[in-house]
Amino acid sequence: MTATEQYQMISKRKSIRKFLMEPLGEAQISALTEQLNHLQPLRSDISTEIRLLPQDTVGGLLSIKAPHYLLLFSEKKEGHLENAGFIMQQIDLYLSANGIGACWLGAAKPKSEFTGNSTLPYIISMAIGMPAEPLHRAGLEQFKRKKMSEICSTAHHLERVEAARLAPSATNSQPWRFITTHTAIHAYRIKLGALKSMIYERMNQIDMGIALCHLWIAAEAHGYRARLTTKEEASVMTPAGTTYIMTMEMEEAHKFKHSKKALLDDEWRRKHLPAKDTLTALKLEPDGNAADVGCGIGYFTLPIAEMIGSEYTVYGLDTSEQMLEEVILKVKKKQLSNVRTIQTDEYDFKLEDAAVTYVLMANVLHEVSDRIKFLQETSRILTPKGRLALLDYEKNESIPGPPIHHRISRDEAKKMLAQAGFEVLLETEFADQFYGIVAVKTVNDE
Ligand SMILES: Cc1cc2nc3c(=O)[nH]c(=O)nc-3n(C[C@H](O)[C@H](O)[C@H](O)COP(=O)(O)O)c2cc1C
Repeated sequence: MTATEQYQMISKRKSIRKFLMEPLGEAQISALTEQLNHLQPLRSDISTEIRLLPQDTVGGLLSIKAPHYLLLFSEKKEGHLENAGFIMQQIDLYLSANGIGACWLGAAKPKSEFTGNSTLPYIISMAIGMPAEPLHRAGLEQFKRKKMSEICSTAHHLERVEAARLAPSATNSQPWRFITTHTAIHAYRIKLGALKSMIYERMNQIDMGIALCHLWIAAEAHGYRARLTTKEEASVMTPAGTTYIMTMEMEEAHKFKHSKKALLDDEWRRKHLPAKDTLTALKLEPDGNAADVGCGIGYFTLPIAEMIGSEYTVYGLDTSEQMLEEVILKVKKKQLSNVRTIQTDEYDFKLEDAAVTYVLMANVLHEVSDRIKFLQETSRILTPKGRLALLDYEKNESIPGPPIHHRISRDEAKKMLAQAGFEVLLETEFADQFYGIVAVKTVNDE
């Protein structure tokens, strides 16, 4: 399951408390069991075990009748409760994405014959099964959560903090607070008085793991490389009445550096990705204005200008002024009259709605943090039925290019396109290294 698929569930999921009592099918159980092998721990030094048990194995206070229960067992070490929350929340999102309901059970007690034979202590369970109530929320207004201003007073990375804001917590207590900087989100937990702490502290630690899980998924889905760690400087600025828990450091998605510009127009590229042939394969036609999004030094921009003819304009869009200066020089040299360069913001292409019938996005999408937002901005500048030609690196270790975790597999790209309102028209490959997808805008913005 990709981070994007998990992320999509964050704004939809809810606790399910009414279940159909038929057990899940064999295929559902085996897919779930397989998924359990892919869960990421917050703390890899803590041993855990997850068991799937049938109905009537868990009872006690506030228990919920369900056809199955997932029980988490863990070594008891510092951070084991946050680790439990972090791990089990990945299952909650997985189940939600696969039509299965779930509810965390903090107070419930599994019968001793089902916990006794584990070498690790029992920590928490989750009721699961096919839902007998709507599985998802219809919109954000259906979440009962604290306002962003109550949990975070700094301005950076609010899209990532939003994912944590929506996280589930025991008795919906939402014990988290965040301080954000350019590159990090520090997480803190509200301190409780002596009495409350006896009842809620354990659960609140699990809640913090859940919130960290949502932060991490959001960062990954937005194209960051995220790392959860502890930081001395974050501990020093712990807000009054809170305890410091952890920090998520984020590295921006991989950006092509101007200093490497020679690679954008070298002999290899001209041989294996000849501009005009590539554009023909990617369905460029002289039927309107075009945009070369993330045009770099204009390797494709100038050939586009020649192919669409002087009746139409090609816009070379890039966030880097230095790259655009190179395009301007080449345009002058070639005496082309139908190229316009625009220095854009990441998610604002500075063009009117429906300005172009064709967008080329060559080796760019993998560099972007919020890919859906980027594709939606692309859709905005396209006419209805306009075409987007996406060219990007295959996600394959043996192919040289950007770091593998920054690349987007063909399937991920197709899912993102569908989500942003595009329909795939054709798929192709170039030089065994790149895939090309031409997609048509299906949504009408009016
Ligand atoms: C650690 C934890 C323990 C929970 N324990 C219970 C429980 O014992 N019984 C129950 O009905 N809900 C339980 N919940 C569900 C919360 O009440 C629920 O997540 C919260 O009210 C937010 O609602 P939502 O999950 O629908 O977004 C628990 C949630 C968490 C995170």
